[in-house]
Amino acid sequence: MVQPKLEGKVAIITGAAAGLGEGIAETYVKYGAKICMVDLSADVDATADRIRGMYPGAEIVTAVANVADRAQMDAAVAKTVEAFGPINVACCNAGVCRLAPFEQMSDEMRDFHIDVNIKGVWNTCQAAIPSMLSNGGGAIVIASSVTGDIVADAGEAAYAMTKAALVGLTKCLAVEYADRHIRVNCSQLGYARTPMVEKMAVESNPDDPEAAINDIAVGVPMKRLAKPTEVGELFAFLGSDEASYITGAQMVIDGGSTLPETMSIGTN
Ligand SMILES: NC(=O)c1ccc[n+]([C@@H]2O[C@H](COP(=O)([O-])OP(=O)(O)OC[C@H]3O[C@@H](n4cnc5c(N)ncnc54)[C@H](O)[C@@H]3O)[C@@H](O)[C@H]2O)c1
Repeated sequence: MVQPKLEGKVAIITGAAAGLGEGIAETYVKYGAKICMVDLSADVDATADRIRGMYPGAEIVTAVANVADRAQMDAAVAKTVEAFGPINVACCNAGVCRLAPFEQMSDEMRDFHIDVNIKGVWNTCQAAIPSMLSNGGGAIVIASSVTGDIVADAGEAAYAMTKAALVGLTKCLAVEYADRHIRVNCSQLGYARTPMVEKMAVESNPDDPEAAINDIAVGVPMKRLAKPTEVGELFAFLGSDEASYITGAQMVIDGGSTLPETMSIGTN
């Protein structure tokens, strides 16, 4: 009999009130993890209740915290440890994206991305790693993106810069903690339909945001966006012992969206 892949694992998941974080939280519970759902928004409690409704007996605590604030992340980690014991997995998922033409992008908007997307992951790792080390190791999964490291669209300068930076952080932490049994990997997602992407669609095409979302799917070989739980499956694998020899990896999950070389050449 195969055990659920995250049975007995304790995971902290940031940005868990909505979107991908919600999908990751749901998937972690499906595989038997005890989780702390962290979010800036108090909506995280309602999301936790929804998951408890799907999985009666689910072991979930929530923490309202800003990943950009180290003290708040220390408190979220302490709450997790108090509820369930040392942390095995940290899913650094919380992130933000605002679009603006580069020359009109304010310093405040740039720094907002740096604070949440880079310092937020930094803080989450620094807060969670001592707990992992106290227990012989663990796994960190960081939400990077195909944006920045592989592709980009106009208006994404701050977002692309910060998401590419997370690849560097992933690689350094993977090397630095390999002999202390902490694996560090990042996901590079194409597009999933989440509140973030719905907001980007409004910024891209205020008159018809739905068309902007449909047009994303047109450019993806699989002709659809990802479901948050499909991203949850990748995070669950990378957080589990099944991924025991994988560290420092960048895992593209994009329905093939970064594959086509042209939109005109080919046989179909
Ligand atoms: N949706 C996509 O297509 C896509 C693609 C590539 C990468 N990503 C990355 O995946 C992650 C999640 O994206 P999403 O689409 O679910 O976003 P989303 O905006 O739909 O949801 C993000 C969640 O994070 C929370 N959050 C925002 N700032 C926070 C902060 N400072 N502290 C704590 N929580 C905070 C929000 O309240 C929200 O619940 C992000 O890092 C994003 O860059 C998303």
